[in-house]
Parts: sequence; C-alpha cells; structure tokens
Amino acid sequence: MKVLHHEIKNYRNIKDVSFSPHEGVNVIYGENGHGKTNILESIWLFTGCNSFRTRKNTELIKENEKEAELNMDFFAFKREQEVKIKIAENKEVHINGIKKNTHRQLLGEFQAVVFSPSVLSVIKEGPGEKRKFIDIAISLLKPNYAATLSKYNKAVSQRNALLKKISDGSSKADFLFAFDEEVARLGGKIIEYRMDYTEKLKQNAAEIYKGISNGREAFDLTYMCGVKDGGTNANEWAQAIYDKLQKNREGDIFRLLTSAGPHKDDLEITLNGKSARAFGSQGQQRSCALSLKIAEGFIIRDLSGEQPVALLDDVMSELDSKRQEDLLSYLDGWQVFVTCCDKAHIEKINHAKAFYVEDGTIKEM
Ligand SMILES: Nc1ncnc2c1ncn2[C@@H]1O[C@H](COP(=O)(O)OP(=O)(O)OP(=O)(O)O)[C@@H](O)[C@H]1O
Ligand SMILES: [Mg+2]
Repeated sequence: MKVLHHEIKNYRNIKDVSFSPHEGVNVIYGENGHGKTNILESIWLFTGCNSFRTRKNTELIKENEKEAELNMDFFAFKREQEVKIKIAENKEVHINGIKKNTHRQLLGEFQAVVFSPSVLSVIKEGPGEKRKFIDIAISLLKPNYAATLSKYNKAVSQRNALLKKISDGSSKADFLFAFDEEVARLGGKIIEYRMDYTEKLKQNAAEIYKGISNGREAFDLTYMCGVKDGGTNANEWAQAIYDKLQKNREGDIFRLLTSAGPHKDDLEITLNGKSARAFGSQGQQRSCALSLKIAEGFIIRDLSGEQPVALLDDVMSELDSKRQEDLLSYLDGWQVFVTCCDKAHIEKINHAKAFYVEDGTIKEM
C-alpha cells in the first residue's frame, strides 16, 4: 500500500498543499503547531475511519471555509486508485470517480496504522481505550465488523432509553425482551470477532515484544469477556449475554444502564503474568504499546496481503535510539510518514524524502 500523491485543501490550518511522497520513509518536520499532525490525520481519513483526534467534521474544515477537500492517489491491491473526500457536514467520498454512500465504504481499500504518544493509553488507560484500539484495528480489516458494532451501540442506547422510560413508568418492562435479544445477538458476534482478533494479536505481539525486549519478559494478552469464561462461537456468547441481561434486569432498570455485553469487556496485557498497566515500567509499557501496533500492521499484511502505511506522529522523540531503530527495522519495506520537530532529529532517521511544514504549507527539502 503506497500513497502516490496527496492533495489537501481548506483542511485544518492548511489552505492548499500537494505532495508526492517516497515509497519508503518520509520525514515531515517543522515547529509546533504548523500542521504536521494535520497532514497525517488527512492521510488517515482515507482508511474510512474517523479522525484519531475528533469525531466532528466541522473541526476538520479550515476556519471561515465551508468545505475541505482531500484527494489521494494510492497504489493498493495491484492497482492505482484515485479517492476524493469532501468534508462539509458529512463526508462525501468518490472512488475512481464513483460516488459512495458513506465514508465507511473506504474501509479495507486503504489501510494505515497510527503510532503516536497516545498509543501508550492502550496500556495505561482503562478498558474503554483498549476496546477502542481493537475496534479500530478490526474495522480496518473487516468492514462488516464496523457495521455490526455501530448497530450494537445503537441497540444498547435504545435499550438504555427504554430502561429510563420503564423507570419513570412511561413504558412496560415486557418491551425489554426485544432489545435484550438484539443486544445479545449482535454482542455475541462482536465477541467472536474480538476473540479471534485477540488471538492473532497475542501471537504476533508476543513475538515482537520478545525481539524488542531481548526476551527478558514474556508478553501475554487475554480478552476478558464479562459474560462467559471461554466459549467458542457467537451463539454461545449471545446466550450468555441474554441470560445475564435477564438476571440483571432489575438492577439495569435501577441504574438505567445495560450491564452485560461487549461494551463492558476488557483486554488484559501482562508481562511475566503481571499486569503491564499496574506493574510495567515506562519502558516496558512503551515496548508493549509498540509491539501491539506493529502486530496490528502485521495482521493487516497477513490477511490482506498489503503492507499498511505507517503514520508515526511524534513518537520518535519519545523513544530511545534502540527502540527507534527497532521500530524502523520492523517497518522495513513499508511506506512510512514520520513527524518530528527538531531538524537535528532528521539526520538520525534513515529517510528517503524530507518535507518541511511551515504555517500550513509544505516544501520538499
Ligand atoms: N479547523 C481549523 N482551522 C484552522 N486551523 C486549525 C483548525 N484545526 C486546527 N488548526 C490549527 O492547526 C494547528 C495544529 O496543527 P498540528 O496539530 O498539525 O500541529 P503540529 O505541526 O503537529 O504541531 P506539534 O509539533 O505541536 O504536534 C494549530 O495551530 C491549530 O490552531
Ligand atoms: Mg503534532
């Protein structure tokens, strides 16, 4: 997967920029607040996912402008594709001149992996961040997953709205059954996807962690399913969710919350059997996060046959030189976009092209 040409118009602080990156390592450098992350974010949007910084389209449009436009030519799956994203209230997408119904239809066409200081939150923060991490990773590979997840979230919101009505006496508890079934059916599928993905992630990340840490600790990863230990398929998990929803019904009506389902699940990451979040050193946590992200890229490569584009935002300065080298050696053969502030840093990164970003403009150096 390679970006051949990229054009950005009226996006964030960028008026009109276009550039042709190298198929190897591209360094994007410049002072704070000049638009480096904006450029990476504009590339990320071609994956079909929302921005990694905001869900609001209006924040992406340049101040005082009505719409932003992004055009990218990329090579993937043995052909060149031309994709246009127009951002106004919604995102409008054209692939090779043909209009698509939703932005999400780009999922699977263009794949990228973002490495940024916030990837550490996968290790340091609570279950929400971990779920977000695997949800995005699976969506990039399986567009159906994104659709199922969206339906599931809607079903949970609708159930919660009904709980409120039951609690204030404006609806009957009997109406819950239909929502219980829907939450359980979709929830079972989500758990199946996540279990399957976690297994692949665990194998890949453990191997990478071993390399990065010189085999000092053993990395492990477990999907913590709140409704059932073990299990093998969506139906089993659906049944377990349904049973738990029946059992917790009164509590759910009291708390106005749906207490069972994959929106409650977690990922446990351990080193030598101990929680990486609670016991890992900063360096160990960083290595865990890097291993997970590199593993994410490897899984995309193994399943789709295409190496995703790597977007490295501000991570180099966070890593010691050994980890920088490790990261780039794992990304050998990928197209990489790496941002940094300090010009001195560029010399240390073995790159093919460098771009200087100043006040929303870009210049190849
Ligand atoms: N919708 C918008 N319209 C105009 N400017 C915007 C918009 N959204 C963000 N900006 C501006 O974009 C700039 C931030 O750009 P970006 O985050 O890409 O900087 P950066 O070069 O990555 O900086 P750093 O090195 O600090 O990470 C800020 O000056 C911000 O005010
Ligand atoms: Mg930045």
